[in-house]
Amino acid sequence: MTNPGTAPRAHITGWGRYVPSQVLTNADLERMVDTNDEWIVSRTGIRERRVAAADETTASMAAVASLRAIRTAGIDPDEIDLILLATLTPDYWMPSTAALVKEAIGNTRAAAMDVAAACSGFVYAFSTAQAYIASGLAKHVLVIGAELLTRFLDYTDRSTCILFGDGAGAVVVSASNEPGGTLGVELTTEPQGAYMIWLPAGGAKSPPSSETIARGEHYIRMEGRETYRFATRTLASTALASVRKAGLEPSDVSLFIPHQANIRIIEAVAKGLDLPMERMFVNLDRYGNTSAASVPIALAEAVNEGRVQVGDNICIVAFGAGFTSGAATIEWTADPARGVAGDVAVGPADVHVRLPVDWDSVDPIPPALAELMARPGLVNPPLDDVVPGEPPAEPAVPAASTSGR
Ligand code: ACO
Repeated sequence: MTNPGTAPRAHITGWGRYVPSQVLTNADLERMVDTNDEWIVSRTGIRERRVAAADETTASMAAVASLRAIRTAGIDPDEIDLILLATLTPDYWMPSTAALVKEAIGNTRAAAMDVAAACSGFVYAFSTAQAYIASGLAKHVLVIGAELLTRFLDYTDRSTCILFGDGAGAVVVSASNEPGGTLGVELTTEPQGAYMIWLPAGGAKSPPSSETIARGEHYIRMEGRETYRFATRTLASTALASVRKAGLEPSDVSLFIPHQANIRIIEAVAKGLDLPMERMFVNLDRYGNTSAASVPIALAEAVNEGRVQVGDNICIVAFGAGFTSGAATIEWTADPARGVAGDVAVGPADVHVRLPVDWDSVDPIPPALAELMARPGLVNPPLDDVVPGEPPAEPAVPAASTSGR
């Protein structure tokens, strides 16, 4: 059944993720700071996280995840009208990381910009995509969350360096007149929490200098307990508002895909919504908190693991610095089986991010991680049910006849 005469709906038609191969375990962190595996697992649920290699950047990880999502959607990269990249760790202050990704994925047409809302960034970018689609301004929007947090951490601060990891996730959001897709969105911003998670130096208020570096002001700082209180209060209420805007109740949602910051926060969300933990997707044990990348990585894994079926209602929900929060309730319409083929079809060697002609960065690996990065990384086992290079299937959802920008 179609909806003639109504605004196009925003359907997720492609999804993909990429995480670097190097693993940083709790045991590794025990050798760097005064911490231990038991404390980290019991207080956060995190067992390991990924660290980007020296030749990887936020843009390169984003490009791999994006090409996987585009492949899953079964469209050509040049069909993307708009690229929205959520990150708090861009490659540079300028240009936008989205601009670099546009070239790396082989798109010539799209407008591209970064979105800054910290860990809520992907949901903010997703809601922007939904608005572009509902208004008819775009037919296919690429929404990315990508972070390279391990280069912004103080490896003498045990309260932050144990939490974060690197990675990227992306979705293709497409216009369609078919029912389903994005049903309800809720976003909040509470500036009284502005300095509870922040990175003091490098911006206009405190430009980078030898003094700011000596003071360690180029690292992420966080008031953990205040952030925890905000997260437990707001995640459930933001998710609930989004679900109700969709005309649903939490019990109608088969899977919540929350920001992967802390297992205790996710347990509090389940409790707040009066749902069992089976309705919460969790992968933070393997990746830690990847900020804006955490929701799209989790979404792609949940779908590829068979946790989402056509017709299911899902809710993506995140909180982060600002303080910000965001949630979107979505009726899933794409064939879940498509994602694995997208993952297999694209690897890091398939993307090339433009570099400056007459400039090279210093070694980007933090000294505390140098020994780790000299080790061989994890080799992901091949997926034997998919033949690499097999042709993409037909698009997952028939696109509406809205004209691209
Ligand atoms: N290992 C061992 N002990 C530690 C560690 C560690 N890594 N870190 C802190 N401790 C100690 C503290 O020093 C403190 O010791 P004390 O009692 O002797 O003073 C004790 O453990 C308890 O510290 P708390 O900070 O109260 O620990 P808490 O249970 O609150 O857990 C945590 C800390 C995990 C950071 C938690 O507060 C949390 O998850 N907060 C939310 C953080 C978050 O989600 N941030 C991301 C926001 S998203 C974004 O936009 C980036």
